[in-house]
Amino acid sequence: MTDWTSDSWRAKTARHQPIYPDSTALTEATSELAAMPPLVTSWEIESLKKQLAEAAQGDRFLLQGGDCAESFGECTSAVIINKLKILLQMSLVLVHGTHKRVIRVGRFAGQYAKPRSESTETRGDQTCTSYYGDIVNRPAFETKARTPDPWRLLRGYERSALTLNFIRSLIDGGFADLHHPEYWQLDFVEHSPKASEFHDIVESIGASLRFMETLSGISAADISRVDFYTSHEALLLPYEAALTRSVPRRPGAYNLSTHFPWIGMRTAATDEAHVEFFRGIRNPIGVKIGPALEPKDMGDFLERLMDKLHPDNEPGRLTLIHRYGASKVADYLPALIEAVRATGKSVLFVCDPMHGNTRKTEANIKTRSFEDILSEVEQAIDIHAACNSHLGGVHFELTGENVTECTGGARGLTDEDLKDGYKSLVDPRLNYEQSLEMALSIARRLAPARGSS
Ligand code: PEP
Ligand code: CO
Repeated sequence: MTDWTSDSWRAKTARHQPIYPDSTALTEATSELAAMPPLVTSWEIESLKKQLAEAAQGDRFLLQGGDCAESFGECTSAVIINKLKILLQMSLVLVHGTHKRVIRVGRFAGQYAKPRSESTETRGDQTCTSYYGDIVNRPAFETKARTPDPWRLLRGYERSALTLNFIRSLIDGGFADLHHPEYWQLDFVEHSPKASEFHDIVESIGASLRFMETLSGISAADISRVDFYTSHEALLLPYEAALTRSVPRRPGAYNLSTHFPWIGMRTAATDEAHVEFFRGIRNPIGVKIGPALEPKDMGDFLERLMDKLHPDNEPGRLTLIHRYGASKVADYLPALIEAVRATGKSVLFVCDPMHGNTRKTEANIKTRSFEDILSEVEQAIDIHAACNSHLGGVHFELTGENVTECTGGARGLTDEDLKDGYKSLVDPRLNYEQSLEMALSIARRLAPARGSS
């Protein structure tokens, strides 16, 4: 690719970028970042791409989840462990239900920057820059805290490295060993209304493992260890560009800030900066697609998108993450599936049932209902099947903590309950119990018919 560099996006419109008042400091901070070691490696990235290609073929299923925005303050042992635990538990439920291998991808180790619909926020007679996520500024509503600070790019890189280091050590140490559910069970699973259903699944997986080991006479240690990959919205282009490198013995450039970056819905215009940046990296990439793209425009848009991002139809390269909302998915998704088919390109379809289902309560709190979220996933599964396609994964905002941010689920959380444990600074997440229940419900919907495998 001769006309692309990790800086060629600078000639295009870059939306949702903070304005740094101190441009010298920005240059210094990004130069420092560019000299730092990468967070992930090209071989991990290529191995994830292979697995995503298998998911696109229907042979694996992608589970992607984590916070809407990570915060520097929550880069703690307990929060990271609990996030891994819930993702691992959900993935076991999905393996059991779908009979497919599950790819686990966290929205973590770098999910620090957020697009904002307004670049400023006004309260009373004071106006400040909007909060763009911890890697840009601080949430407190005062001028100093909200001024974009380029040195926070380094702090975000460091937090990502700390998070990743801890995750890798936990996994190497056997945290995710399926023989030892006591390592990865969350304590409060015992009190969950869904506890016994989950325990039955864990017991059945344990029995299958023991059966296989008896039969083959070898330990299933190798197959019973799991991988986690990282992902985030690659919104903040100076950060992403600084961590984009060429590597020995492989052609092209890799964004080594994460395995699986995605383009947000608001920055996916094909003639703008984000698509330009993503065009030249060799990672598997996601693109969010929402209702702003009308069925009549899908054909043209997808042709242009494929030309830029998926010209070689490389297996595993492109994931489309649709996020329409429970009330719209039936109107939009069949047209999207058809428009993709018309391009002749292979993609992995994933449903994000969070971002199209946000509403505000009477008390002006952002929430989402468990039932809307589940309804969108269930409709998406059925629509794909009816259109001779298949849903290859799900994308959630969730946490392993016991927060009250989304309503509904087995405990029937109401708008009134939200005040008890609402922590997110941005979008509402499924809590631990709601996440597990979601996985149980989806697994049931995806279960292969009896007699097939
Ligand atoms: C997000 O994933 O947090 C997000 C902002 O999503 P979208 O781009 O789909 O609105
Ligand atoms: Co969000």
